[in-house]
Amino acid sequence: MKAIVVTDEAAGTAGMTLAERPEPEATGNDVLVEVHASGFTPGELTWPGTWTDRLGRDRTPSIPGHEVAGVVSALGYGTRGLSVGQRVFGLADWTRDGTLAEYVAIEARNVAPLPGDVDFTVGASLPISGLTAWQGLFVHGRFQVGQSVLVHGAAGGVGSMVTQLAKEAGAYVIGTGRAADRQTALDFGAQEFVDLDNDALKDIGGVDLVFDVIGGDIGKDSAGLVRAGGTLVTIAGPPEARPTDGLAIDFVVEADRAQLGEVVQRVRDGRVRTNIGHVATLDDAVAAFNPTERIKGKTIIRVRP
Ligand SMILES: NC(=O)c1ccc[n+]([C@@H]2O[C@H](COP(=O)([O-])OP(=O)(O)OC[C@H]3O[C@@H](n4cnc5c(N)ncnc54)[C@H](OP(=O)(O)O)[C@@H]3O)[C@@H](O)[C@H]2O)c1
Repeated sequence: MKAIVVTDEAAGTAGMTLAERPEPEATGNDVLVEVHASGFTPGELTWPGTWTDRLGRDRTPSIPGHEVAGVVSALGYGTRGLSVGQRVFGLADWTRDGTLAEYVAIEARNVAPLPGDVDFTVGASLPISGLTAWQGLFVHGRFQVGQSVLVHGAAGGVGSMVTQLAKEAGAYVIGTGRAADRQTALDFGAQEFVDLDNDALKDIGGVDLVFDVIGGDIGKDSAGLVRAGGTLVTIAGPPEARPTDGLAIDFVVEADRAQLGEVVQRVRDGRVRTNIGHVATLDDAVAAFNPTERIKGKTIIRVRP
């Protein structure tokens, strides 16, 4: 099968190549998915699981990409609840070959049914942003109706989903980002916007929940904004500062079939929209992940037309 492979962490996305790889097999509790569309997060080329298996053994050349939408083409031994021919979408395992390929073998519990009226391209854009936003807000952040939420990177893949889910759940949302992202963040539902290059974060006052996707000094400065009893949730690594009277939680997104269902239902009924900036074919994927100019929104690879 055709696949994008990486062999050298230092090379980043410039080291991606289109290659011929053996088709994977569905092992116990897996489904084999005929990939129709695939999503990739640039940061994943720094994640250990991209380069080694669960025992830390080198597994290069590895196939990146963890978001998939496609059709089940085979079931592994013991797999229940899904059938061959079924449309699915989900989050591929961190330490196995990923979704920038014509087929991916994936644990069945990591995928959910993809409704027939949701395009594969949309389906592949949702698993990481949707699950990360859901888990950060409702599981780790323990969001309550009426709370204020500061969403860093509100125009980005995760931030735009956090902004929409929080707003829909009854939050007052303050988005942040670069000056050029103001209107995008407001269009996704932020009620206020802080331009991180020009505005002072401290002028916001206090918030109940900070959702940080950036880290560094922005993460540090955000800890002081959390009100008593509030939470700083970060996906940018261990927090370097903690709220004086609140929680700081960093987490890595996990697959969850029920939460995938919640997110896709909101897309179907128009409460949430995805944030796709560019769609390319597998043949053009390397160029698409090495753009010469800034692309707003997520790049999705349409593996089958
Ligand atoms: N722990 C987890 O489970 C998990 C899950 C998903 C993602 N992540 C990580 O979370 C990060 C965000 O992911 P994403 O998919 O949302 O990325 P993204 O689509 O690039 O969004 C990030 C947004 O933040 C903005 N931003 C970044 N640094 C900034 C700064 N210093 N000042 C102002 N704006 C800034 C970006 O603007 P520019 O594009 O202009 O920089 C972009 O709009 C990535 O590092 C990703 O690897 C972690």
